[in-house]
Amino acid sequence: MVIPSLIQHKRDGAALRPAEWTALIEGYTAGRVPDYQMSALLMAVVWRGLNPEELAALTDAMLQSGDRLRFDGFERPRADKHSTGGIGDKVSLLLAPMVASCGVAVPMMSGRGLGHTGGTLDKLESIPGFRTALTLREAKAQVERIGCAMLGQTPEIAPADKRLYALRDVTGTVESIPLIAASIMSKKLAEGLNGLVLDVKTGSGAFLPEEAQAIELARTMIGLGEVRGCPTVALLTAMDRPLGRSCGNALEVEEAIDGLRGEGPADLMEVTYALAVEMILLVGAAADAADARKKLEDSVSSGRALETLGKIIEAQGGDSKVLDDPALLPQAAEVEVFRAPRDGVVAQIEPRKVGRAILELGGGRRTIEEEIDPSVGFVIPAKPGDRVKAGEPLASVFARNRDGIETGFRALREAIVIGDEGSLTPLITHRVTASGVERLG
Ligand code: URA
Repeated sequence: MVIPSLIQHKRDGAALRPAEWTALIEGYTAGRVPDYQMSALLMAVVWRGLNPEELAALTDAMLQSGDRLRFDGFERPRADKHSTGGIGDKVSLLLAPMVASCGVAVPMMSGRGLGHTGGTLDKLESIPGFRTALTLREAKAQVERIGCAMLGQTPEIAPADKRLYALRDVTGTVESIPLIAASIMSKKLAEGLNGLVLDVKTGSGAFLPEEAQAIELARTMIGLGEVRGCPTVALLTAMDRPLGRSCGNALEVEEAIDGLRGEGPADLMEVTYALAVEMILLVGAAADAADARKKLEDSVSSGRALETLGKIIEAQGGDSKVLDDPALLPQAAEVEVFRAPRDGVVAQIEPRKVGRAILELGGGRRTIEEEIDPSVGFVIPAKPGDRVKAGEPLASVFARNRDGIETGFRALREAIVIGDEGSLTPLITHRVTASGVERLG
C-alpha cells in the first residue's frame, strides 16, 4: 500500500477499493500510518466524499478495529441514542438513566467534545471521580447489574474512531456526511444493541446545518445500521440555538440533574422525551408512544431516574453527592451577568459562537493533548422570540478569570442578536426511518 498514491487518488475524486480502506484503518490503528497522512486523506474525503462501498468498508474497518460488547444470555432489550453534536446538548445525561429505569438496558458509548460542540464524556468527567474509561468487561457487568453504563471508546472499542475523532477535531475534517456516519455507527454497532436512535441536529450550530444534509446523514446512518442488524431511527432536532439553558461541562451536568428532578427547561425535556420514546418503541418495551412517554414520565416523577443516575455515578467511581449538592461540581472562579443592550426581541442566539467561546474559555480542546476546564461556560435562559428590556439579564458567563469574563461578554455580544422581531423555529422537525422521512414540525 503506497499511502501517498491513495491520498492523491482520493484527492482527485477516485474511489479507493474496500480492501484499501481496510488496510488504511488497520495501519492507522496499529500506528503504521501517521497522523499527517491520515489528516490529508480525511481532508480529501471531506471534499470528495465516499461512495457506498467505501463507506461500508470504512465503517466495518473502524468497527473491527476493536472488540464489541456481547450480551449472550442477557434477557433485557438494549438500546442507545447518539447525537451528531450540539451546544448545550446534555440529553444523554438524562435519557440514559430514564430509559434504563424503564427496563431497557443502555450501554452508552459516547465521545468527547468535537469542534465547537460539547461531548458527553467531558460532561460526565466533570463529576468528581467519574471514570469513563471502562473496560468491556466492566461495562457489560455494569449494564447487567444496573441497566446502564456510560463509557468512552476504550482501546478495546472502535479504537480507530477514537484516534480519528481526535484527529478530525483539530484538522478541520469534522464536517463530512460519510466521516460522521462512519464515526458514529462504528461505535454504536460495537454496543450489541437491539435498537439505535439518532439525534441529527440541523441549523447553524450543527456540523451539517442544512436540512437536506441532515436528512442525508440520517438516511446514511440508518442504512449502515439496518444492514448490520441494528434497527435505527432518527429525529432531526433544532440546533439553531443552544438546547436548554446551560452550555459548558459542569453547568450542563447541573441542568441534567434539574431535569431528572422534573425541573428541566422545556426544550431539553421535549427532545429528551421524544428520543427516549423512540428508544423504548424500537425494542418493543411499550405498547405505543403514549405508553412509552408515561413510563418515562413516571421514571422522573418517582425519582427512579435520578436514583439510576446516582447508581451509574457510583459504579463509575464518581461522587453521587453532586446530585444533592451541585456545588460539589467544579465551580468557576468568576461569574458575571450579561444584560440586554437594548429593548427588543431576541432574534438569534448563535450556537456556534457560544460553542467557540466555550473553547476559548478553556472548556474544550484546541489540540489533542489539551486539558479542559469543566467549570467554564454560559447559562443563557433567553430564547429567540423573547421580548426583552434594556439592562435585563440575558445570560451569565462562568470563567476562570476576568479575561475569561471579557471573552465571554464579547462572544455573547456577537451571539445574541436583539432585533425588532424573532421567533423560535420548531424543535423537532423530522422523523426518519428505513421506510422514509416524515415531517413533524
Ligand atoms: N459524533 C461522533 O461520534 N462522530 C462524529 O463525527 C460527529 C459526532
